[in-house]
Amino acid sequence: MNEIKLFCPATIANVSCGFDVLGLCLDSTGDEMIVRKTPEKGVKITKIIGQDLPLETEKNVAGVAVLAMLKEIDSEFGFEIEINKKIKPGSGIGSSAASAAGAVFGVNKLLNKPFSKEKLVEFAMMGEALASGAPHADNVAPALLGGFTLVKGYEPFEVLKLQTPSELFATVIHPQIEVKTADARSVIKQNIPLKKAIMQWGNLAALVSALYTEDYDLLSRCLHDEIVEPMRSPLIPGFFKVKEAAKNAGALGSGISGSGPSIFALSKGEATAKKVATAMAEIYKDFGVAYDTHVSTINTEGIKIM
Ligand code: HSE
Repeated sequence: MNEIKLFCPATIANVSCGFDVLGLCLDSTGDEMIVRKTPEKGVKITKIIGQDLPLETEKNVAGVAVLAMLKEIDSEFGFEIEINKKIKPGSGIGSSAASAAGAVFGVNKLLNKPFSKEKLVEFAMMGEALASGAPHADNVAPALLGGFTLVKGYEPFEVLKLQTPSELFATVIHPQIEVKTADARSVIKQNIPLKKAIMQWGNLAALVSALYTEDYDLLSRCLHDEIVEPMRSPLIPGFFKVKEAAKNAGALGSGISGSGPSIFALSKGEATAKKVATAMAEIYKDFGVAYDTHVSTINTEGIKIM
């Protein structure tokens, strides 16, 4: 095999109570990517369609992720990458993660899979470090492993794939403003009161239990963010109105998708998820903010070969 074409899915990081550790994979939107073998060693980004992003390997999230990988293996050939960016950078649904994860997945496949998907997460994280200054894995892990993923720890790095309840759907609304992850991270205080930490880890642990027992009511009670959402919500116009509209339309819960500005909601069943999308959109219609919405199953596979 000399060439591979991939669908690199969008993802929702944090999922309210799991800042930097919890994420889930979407199916409704994603980048497309072609990875090709070349006789010259190294990696080149040859084409980017849809967004104005750097082609220089060291400045491109896909490029640095593959460079991290090639440091650990002696490949007799190199790679070139074409990216059709369908996920807008700064939208909060893992744009940089899709490119970084797709690139390492594609190269690994063309090398006959020397690395596990968990190891690929670590390489892809180098792309996130370039994009936001912080090597977080809560977008690249669900993009690579699919479903819900949990980073058990960063030092040493350990990531787990969790179970996905069968009737769970995600709704995402993306107000057309850009929030850079680095900026959204700069508003977060570095210390938190113990009382809030207790609420957060209680919710996170119970959410994991709810995923395995398919307990949608428990899942609903866990979708709270005591720590980061209060600090970031001022960056997103109409955030609390959108949350309220989602809840009233039957969502299990909602929150900031990754570092925003997209807002996600989770629902039991597609019909409810669609009602939630309409209700969320009504708020932005009133605000006069341009937006787009999508409803998605949870993609339990992750990156797909097209
Ligand atoms: N956990 C990261 C953050 C995700 O919230 O900054 C960014 O998509």
